[in-house]
Amino acid sequence: MSIDDILAEELEWQQPAANRREAGPDVMIYCDRLVRIFKISGIEVQALQGLDLVVRKGELTALVGASGSGKSTLLNILAGLDQPTGGKATVAGHDLLTMTSAERLDYWRSTVGFLWQQTSRNLLPHLTAGENVALPMQLAGVGRRERKRLAIATLEMLGVGDCRDKMVPEMSGGQQQRVAVGVAIANNPPVVLADEPTGELDNQTAAEVFGALRAANAETGATILVVTHDAAVSEHVSRTIAIRDGRISTEVLRRTEIDESGTESHVAEQFAALDRAGRLQLPAEYIEALGMSDRVRLGLEAEYVTVRPADAGPPGGRSGRGYGGSDDEQDGPR
Ligand SMILES: Nc1ncnc2c1ncn2[C@@H]1O[C@H](COP(=O)(O)OP(=O)(O)OP(=O)(O)O)[C@@H](O)[C@H]1O
Ligand SMILES: [Mg+2]
Repeated sequence: MSIDDILAEELEWQQPAANRREAGPDVMIYCDRLVRIFKISGIEVQALQGLDLVVRKGELTALVGASGSGKSTLLNILAGLDQPTGGKATVAGHDLLTMTSAERLDYWRSTVGFLWQQTSRNLLPHLTAGENVALPMQLAGVGRRERKRLAIATLEMLGVGDCRDKMVPEMSGGQQQRVAVGVAIANNPPVVLADEPTGELDNQTAAEVFGALRAANAETGATILVVTHDAAVSEHVSRTIAIRDGRISTEVLRRTEIDESGTESHVAEQFAALDRAGRLQLPAEYIEALGMSDRVRLGLEAEYVTVRPADAGPPGGRSGRGYGGSDDEQDGPR
């Protein structure tokens, strides 16, 4: 590779994302090398370290990851509550880095609905469930009768129609969170973000809240991104993204297949994110299972790449060859 090639590659890397990869009309959330650095008393914490993410219109996606991995940081940026240090983030076509404060206000009112973990943050305690759901509509200028009708329909769709005249303290935690889903979708925002909405609930109640999120997704077509610690949640969504050290590491896609005899089966496939520089992160359990560390042995096959412990010896198989090497260079990188 000549120095010109290296410079050309470097320039390409520095180009604004839009020039390199179109976000596309069906892309609702788009993050490109998103960085967020917090500074506390001179010490830097890199909460997001060049995170790439594409979420398409209408997807219901779970975001999982260990404590401190950057989930809330990402959600706060997408909600327009926090500003990234670098990179690019657009939601429903709004550029979160260049938005003015007037645009930001409009963004909160009409583009994103937000659901917090703490039930007390989502609802006003001195209002009934129906009044809570109607309030954002009132702020958006919807007439009294219309917002009452819409609030009741929304609560019914979320399975809490019977709570419409109940004050917040008269409802269970699960009911409150389902009503809170109603508040988040009241003005039909294209995007709903939820940060551990089931964190304070038991499994059964959490499943009901997820049922409400699924209903909201199916009925309104909203794109929903929900942060959770609960591994069981992935059963409820078609896409689960794992975040590790401020970057997307792996994702699981689920789909239902129906065979010729009409039998339904659920298929789950795990994927790793591959960034533009060719980096990917192996799941921790894979690394542990094979005792891999520091460096691994790569092999390029006709249809796949092998990753093996460095001490595993040269790749076998007729077509096996080391990374970047020919057949007589089977030792891989040094
Ligand atoms: N306002 C802040 N000031 C300083 N550091 C912060 C701030 N917010 C987050 N961080 C740091 O950024 C990192 C990511 O935090 P974040 O809250 O995004 O994690 P999380 O994945 O939501 O964790 P949890 O599952 O515990 O909620 C952590 O190291 C955290 O200490
Ligand atoms: Mg968090």
